[in-house]
Amino acid sequence: MDTITVTASRTYDVLVGRGLLVKAGELTAPLVKGRHCVIISDDNVFPLYGETVQKSMEDAGFISDTFLFQAGEASKNTNTLLNFLSFMAEHEMTRQDVVIALGGGVTGDMGGLGAALFLRGIACIQIPTSLLAMVDSSVGGKTAIDLPAGKNMVGTFTQPHLVLCDIDTLKTLPDAVYAEGMAEIIKYGMLGSRALLDILDSEAADEQIKHIVTECVSMKRDIVAQDEQDLGERQILNFGHTIGHAIERCSNYGIFHGEGVAMGMGIMTRACVKLNLCPPECEEILTRLLRKYHLPDDTELSTEQLMQAARADKKRRGEAITLVMPVEVGKCVLHRTEFSALEEILQLGSAAL
Ligand code: GLY
Repeated sequence: MDTITVTASRTYDVLVGRGLLVKAGELTAPLVKGRHCVIISDDNVFPLYGETVQKSMEDAGFISDTFLFQAGEASKNTNTLLNFLSFMAEHEMTRQDVVIALGGGVTGDMGGLGAALFLRGIACIQIPTSLLAMVDSSVGGKTAIDLPAGKNMVGTFTQPHLVLCDIDTLKTLPDAVYAEGMAEIIKYGMLGSRALLDILDSEAADEQIKHIVTECVSMKRDIVAQDEQDLGERQILNFGHTIGHAIERCSNYGIFHGEGVAMGMGIMTRACVKLNLCPPECEEILTRLLRKYHLPDDTELSTEQLMQAARADKKRRGEAITLVMPVEVGKCVLHRTEFSALEEILQLGSAAL
């Protein structure tokens, strides 16, 4: 088992290994005074792993209640949040008690935000069961729900008390969900680690998944330690995201987040090669890895459609835009520029040119 200690407004461990679900109770017990937990999960994940976690919590002396919601981003809304908060109140959870968020990114967000708000904040243990949640959303304390006006519009920065990444849970992931996690992993390689890109490029990559998760979490730890509130350096994690969000928005969120990120990275990297901002090798390795993991690197949407979607996002962020651009293999930089610069990137980055 690997232990990565995150130092932010709370210091906590991220444990990466196999067979961790059965240890959830014994690992949680020393971190909280109360002995009552609510396991929050969705109707896909709970049937697979709920009983194991429940038993582990009860064996460690916890009374456990379970709050379930329908799987999918559509549930990440105010209704589910209010139901969850009311559930905790009805089950008389106290400030000493703990939320166990068992599932993918939506569950992590809902569990984390509910825990952050209930009684002004109770402990939360994140148990991510998707690759994307392990390497990204469960670590770093971002919690949010969506509004009709946009994704992740209501939330907090609240760090969890512990994150358990049980690699065994990846076995049950549908291929497309595994692949979208790989998109975020490729992103980590592109923005900060040539060594990670080399591992992903090797034949034995899938066998090294535990090491890969540990590497990504370690990179995220370093970034979050510098900029917990996402005011500067943490924005490097948005490589592929500005364009990816626009693509997701245009497709009415009908594609996986990781697919949008993959397309966004492809478009940005091709544009940067054409602008001589990075060597062609960046595009070669990115394209090879995206193909290897069955991820797209371009979109059929027009520049006009994407600019319109990005403009809607821009309203939330002001006139300027911070783009994340590759400068060499395994290195990206932040580039603050006029919003209009995005149009040239989108045109140059189209694979059709
Ligand atoms: N998912 C990007 C971040 O945590 O900042």
